[in-house]
Amino acid sequence: MSKPVDIAPATGKLGVLTPGMGAVATTLYAGVLAARKGLAQPYGSLTQIGHIRLGRRDDARNPLIKDFVPLASLDDLVFGGWDAYSDDAYAAAMKAGVLEPHHIEAVGDELRLIEPMPAVFDPKWVRNLNGVDNVKPAEGTKMDQAEALMADIDRFRSEHGVERVVMVWCGSTETYKDLSEVHMDLESFEKGLKESHPDIAPSQIYAYAALQSDVPFANGAPNLTVDIPAMVQLAEERGVPISGKDFKTGQTLMKTIVAPGLKARMLGVRGWFSTNILGNRDGEVLDDPDSFKSKEVSKLGVLEQILQPELYPELYGELYHKVRINYYPPRGDEKEGWDNIDIFGWLGYPMQIKIDFLCRDSILAAPLALDLALFMDLAHRAGRKGIQEWLSFYYKTPQHAPEVYPENDLFIQLAKLKNNLRQMMGEELITHLGTEYYDYEK
Ligand SMILES: NC(=O)c1ccc[n+]([C@@H]2O[C@H](COP(=O)([O-])OP(=O)(O)OC[C@H]3O[C@@H](n4cnc5c(N)ncnc54)[C@H](O)[C@@H]3O)[C@@H](O)[C@H]2O)c1
Repeated sequence: MSKPVDIAPATGKLGVLTPGMGAVATTLYAGVLAARKGLAQPYGSLTQIGHIRLGRRDDARNPLIKDFVPLASLDDLVFGGWDAYSDDAYAAAMKAGVLEPHHIEAVGDELRLIEPMPAVFDPKWVRNLNGVDNVKPAEGTKMDQAEALMADIDRFRSEHGVERVVMVWCGSTETYKDLSEVHMDLESFEKGLKESHPDIAPSQIYAYAALQSDVPFANGAPNLTVDIPAMVQLAEERGVPISGKDFKTGQTLMKTIVAPGLKARMLGVRGWFSTNILGNRDGEVLDDPDSFKSKEVSKLGVLEQILQPELYPELYGELYHKVRINYYPPRGDEKEGWDNIDIFGWLGYPMQIKIDFLCRDSILAAPLALDLALFMDLAHRAGRKGIQEWLSFYYKTPQHAPEVYPENDLFIQLAKLKNNLRQMMGEELITHLGTEYYDYEK
């Protein structure tokens, strides 16, 4: 066994701030409030119901993760956020239409108290939102906006008496933009903030404000936010964890479950066509081609990395991968994702797999946002800073060190996450070798 890492205790309240108080964020708040009243179960959350094996299989030590590592308890969470619309969390949850009204009513009094702070918002970065009514004044520079956000964080801290804060981006997907000079180091970025450089996105202003305020930042959307060199540098300098990006729900979750299995059995894939219909506000934003581009980039990379066509050109070299998202209002948050997978096996004989996933986007995303908030806080207390690759499990495009490729296989990601928890607590890492149960030496 190794020495356990020094982890500061999870005493006091933990503030969870979400830029964006739409479908995912309000489903997160309402779910946690309901779970702590015992009205519903937090299914889908590894931190709340997952167990972790410790030691040998015949040791029978399988504690709950939340009993094994010192996580903040649901009772200690305090939610807050920013949104470009002034609806409080109760009204926003009703409009999002994810949860049944009776679920929202059951925690209505608490949701009504969560009012959005005015957003740092720029319609150039999110085009399909109309009639926004809760935006910080546009005068001043982007640095002034960052300072206004830092003041919001300070006020939130003192008004709610929270000991620690984490930020989880639950805002709309911003339009696609590549890295530019202004993102390359902290000095250029800060100069860019003072000159209101057009390549600095609102999400990057939130992330800068978070890190300057010693607040870990997790990015639930596919936009470029903490995955820029300037932000990695800032996170390391300030000793604050960052992670991203894009919650791994729905179709990509299925892809990262199915693709490793096909590859494990050395089955070839000729084509993978994925199409979705969804009718929530996220779908409306993604109807804009530039916002879709951010999403497309994040969805397409996954298969390539899992299947490794460079190692298996005969199986995956010709793979045709297409992803479509169509905005279809009647469906609301209840997305339907179809996958047609053309595979081949022994002697090249073709086969097909069809997946029709009738999912609920925010029902899948909310537990990920919760786990990220709790694990990012744990990482901070454990003295971890910069990129938290061990949280890849939660993301479509996991942030990683520049010299390695990202790990997208859900099962490798889970093993990585659990081994990181074991390592923090000074427990033996589990290799699944299995020889210890057999007497091979005789
Ligand atoms: N639901 C899922 O399964 C899922 C999965 C992966 C990623 N995501 C991403 O999570 C994000 C949230 O999804 P959602 O379904 O809650 O969307 P949503 O449209 O319901 O909510 C997003 C909210 O962000 C607000 N917003 C936009 N720009 C902002 C800014 N600069 N500051 C503050 N608020 C801002 C919008 O007004 C809106 O209320 C999206 O980017 C989405 O792509 C969602």
